[in-house]
Amino acid sequence: MRLRRVASLTAGAALLFVTAAGAQPVDVSGLNERYKDPDLKVEAWAQRFESEGREVFDRREEIVASIGLEPGQSIADVGAGTGLFVPLFAAAVGPDGKVYAVDIAPRFIEHIRARAAERDLTQVTAILNEDRSTRLPEGSVDVVFICDTYHHFEYPEAMLASIHRAMRPGGRLVIVDFKREGRMGRHVRAGKEVFKAEIEAGGFRFTEELEIDGIEENYILHFERR
Ligand SMILES: C[S@@+](CC[C@H](N)C(=O)[O-])C[C@H]1O[C@@H](n2cnc3c(N)ncnc32)[C@H](O)[C@@H]1O
Repeated sequence: MRLRRVASLTAGAALLFVTAAGAQPVDVSGLNERYKDPDLKVEAWAQRFESEGREVFDRREEIVASIGLEPGQSIADVGAGTGLFVPLFAAAVGPDGKVYAVDIAPRFIEHIRARAAERDLTQVTAILNEDRSTRLPEGSVDVVFICDTYHHFEYPEAMLASIHRAMRPGGRLVIVDFKREGRMGRHVRAGKEVFKAEIEAGGFRFTEELEIDGIEENYILHFERR
């Protein structure tokens, strides 16, 4: 795996947090309604999220390895979708670890539960959450992982507070999200600097940015719980 740790980002955009992530919902233009559909076609979404050509799928093993999980640790995948990362996290933390797969989409949660049961991944717990809360137990996780989902949060401030509560002291937050450029640029409500400022204002300290060969459309930011 070729992995680069990039120098700290420049500070900025902190003021935007007040408007972008205050008590009012941010405008995510109905991005999430389709996921909440009780008739959601999970197989079609699994094809979309778990197919070659999607860079986070192609580099999923490198992404997971770069987090440096240890056996027995606890990780939450918030916005787990069809569960692309769930078996990889389960392997990394082992049978004595814990993987919480959290999503607001009931059909995705059913799908993740069924797949975990088929594979006898007893360390996986799937949680149907809500827009303002992860519903994770307090002080339960070492790492929170959020892939292509932070920009979907309608209530980022409330979600960050919930993530903060769920983390153990020294807990780490890993964000993978789209650069605000190119094909996916129109899809995200803000870019890296704004999201970084929001997350720092939510009680996290930025630690590093990682680059992985083949990851071009996304950036990867690491934070620590303050
Ligand atoms: C683009 S998908 C990414 C799924 C997965 N992380 C992946 O990379 O394959 C975004 C996911 O975020 C979920 N989502 C949106 N808002 C959420 C929230 N507040 N809490 C948890 N999940 C959320 C959606 O239901 C959807 O499954």
